[in-house]
Amino acid sequence: MTEPLLQVKDLKKYFPITGGVFSKKIGEVKAVDDLTFTVYKGETLGIVGESGCGKSTTGRMLLRLIEPTEGSIVFENQEITNLSKQELRKVRRDMQMVFQDPFASLNPRHTVEKILEEPLVVHGIGSKQERKKKVYEMLEVVGLGSYHAKRYPHQFSGGQRQRIGIARALMTRPKLIIADEPVSALDVSIQAQVLNLLEDLQKEFGLTYIFIAHDLGVVRHISDRVGVMYLGRMVELADSDVLYESPKHPYTKALLSAVPIPDPEYQQERQLLTGDLPSPANPPKGCAFHTRCSACMDICKTTRPTLQEVEKGHYVACHLYQ
Ligand SMILES: Nc1ncnc2c1ncn2[C@@H]1O[C@H](COP(=O)(O)OP(=O)(O)OP(=O)(O)O)[C@@H](O)[C@H]1O
Ligand SMILES: [Mg+2]
Repeated sequence: MTEPLLQVKDLKKYFPITGGVFSKKIGEVKAVDDLTFTVYKGETLGIVGESGCGKSTTGRMLLRLIEPTEGSIVFENQEITNLSKQELRKVRRDMQMVFQDPFASLNPRHTVEKILEEPLVVHGIGSKQERKKKVYEMLEVVGLGSYHAKRYPHQFSGGQRQRIGIARALMTRPKLIIADEPVSALDVSIQAQVLNLLEDLQKEFGLTYIFIAHDLGVVRHISDRVGVMYLGRMVELADSDVLYESPKHPYTKALLSAVPIPDPEYQQERQLLTGDLPSPANPPKGCAFHTRCSACMDICKTTRPTLQEVEKGHYVACHLYQ
């Protein structure tokens, strides 16, 4: 594997729950709890998990759009959790985000040209002429044609709008792109086109991706490695093929059981997820998954398993393997 680009250690985000007339803090939502992982240069790390498990919170914390409660984020050997606003701006040039809903993330009153120029203005890149040239070039790169520059977001289809969102993220020539469910809002037929575009751009610009999704089917194709989150924690992390062919954590097995497999010869032990996702404001003691796990043992109810490397590059947090 190549060098690390981003190293996340013991990252936490606890959102306060307030109540009463004086808005006193009465509890916390543990959206992200002790998350540790590394992203290597040039790879795509997929992050999957059910709704509410902390994927978007993680993505936003990496850019410090949400301030972490605790933990460390090292980007290119620099700790970024304690950087000032000014210092952070330089880092943000190298890390950009693509959002799920391109319509909500694009200013409806600005032309595409203005939307794409803005990151360059913010970072003081180029003269007016040079910026304009870069905008027109980038529109071609994402397959939109520069004649679209004077149009507004509502004049595009969903797939085209996501291309604009991707173009905007690329304007500063970042090293890392955090894509938070970038194709979830699109028609299935358009999803493949946008995924292919992301793959082409990765090769062309030498990008590293963190690709967030709730659907294991979507991330498999694009990811080199995949991490599975449950209630704010990473429960399994492995090379994509390994994770799909020999998952270890009962939660991963259950998620995979829900992905339809077109091969009728393929026999899978089906493990269905029963029960609801517990509240992150009151996560179960011990292993957070024990309340829904078909392999639950006594120790699972009392002791939290840590993420451990059980085979080379294959990490699992489960007492069955410890
Ligand atoms: N600003 C906030 N204040 C309080 N709680 C929040 C806030 N943002 C997120 N949460 C809570 O944190 C948890 C994780 O939310 P997050 O959006 O990260 O989940 P997610 O994995 O991205 O889910 P989805 O797949 O639905 O996008 C949820 O329980 C959510 O309600
Ligand atoms: Mg989300």
